[in-house]
Amino acid sequence: MNANIIIECKDLGKQYKTPEGERVIIERMDLAVKENEFVVLFGPGQCGKTTMIRLLSGLEQPDRGAVRINGKRIQGPGPDRGVVYQTISLFPWLTVMGNVEYGPKVRGIAKKERREKAQHYIELVGLKGFENTYPVKLSGGMKQRVGIARAYCNEPVVMFMDEPFGALDAQTRYLMQEELAQIWEKEQRTVIFVTNNIEEALYLADRIIVMRNCPSSIKREYEIDLPRPRNYVDPEFLRLRKEITGIMDKTL
Ligand SMILES: Nc1ncnc2c1ncn2[C@@H]1O[C@H](COP(=O)(O)OP(=O)(O)OP(=O)(O)O)[C@@H](O)[C@H]1O
Ligand SMILES: [Mg+2]
Repeated sequence: MNANIIIECKDLGKQYKTPEGERVIIERMDLAVKENEFVVLFGPGQCGKTTMIRLLSGLEQPDRGAVRINGKRIQGPGPDRGVVYQTISLFPWLTVMGNVEYGPKVRGIAKKERREKAQHYIELVGLKGFENTYPVKLSGGMKQRVGIARAYCNEPVVMFMDEPFGALDAQTRYLMQEELAQIWEKEQRTVIFVTNNIEEALYLADRIIVMRNCPSSIKREYEIDLPRPRNYVDPEFLRLRKEITGIMDKTL
């Protein structure tokens, strides 16, 4: 095994029972993600992206194949995996600080240490000054920032993001893409990010995995070596955007 590979799956398959019988969602997926690599799973609506996140993060078990993190087969969820969802479920009764420090607190990290850690990540996501604010007072973009800080604060081995900006308005979405790219450049992590937005994929990814429609498998992979920060109207960006959009399956 390549020592640099953090998470991998081979011949991964998943099907669900439906009233019409078994339905294969993931036909076959092979993936190996290197340390600090930013991988984007890109595919049309309903192609099985969330199912992949659930399998890779251990929330669900595959019917075939296995997921390994640092060579060890995973059999359930664990603190070494952090997930950021489209709708961030923050604890409404806790402040920004309370939400971000929650993971380390549950793991028994002493108050001083976890506060320092949480403060660092709150500042990393640009929320300095909002430590004592409650979620109800935060905008959608700010909630996603808290979600990112919370995931970082748990110091997971792999961070999963399932369309984290999918519910934001277009302008906030661009802003958050830029912010996330900056955050990741400052503190690199191994990230598996899901989107059906090609601009977002190209703006963020080291590598884009294009998924087929359900039953899903990998249609094609692209190494994206455009310099960062990326430019949405750079000719090569636009060329790749056109090419990848062209090969993408349409939602059935
Ligand atoms: N527990 C389940 N039981 C039966 N079918 C399921 C289950 N979970 C997901 N599916 C089906 O699997 C398919 C893929 O779903 P999934 O949520 O993984 O896709 P997705 O690419 O994340 O979709 P979206 O773009 O809407 O986020 C869908 O047709 C869905 O109905
Ligand atoms: Mg989904």
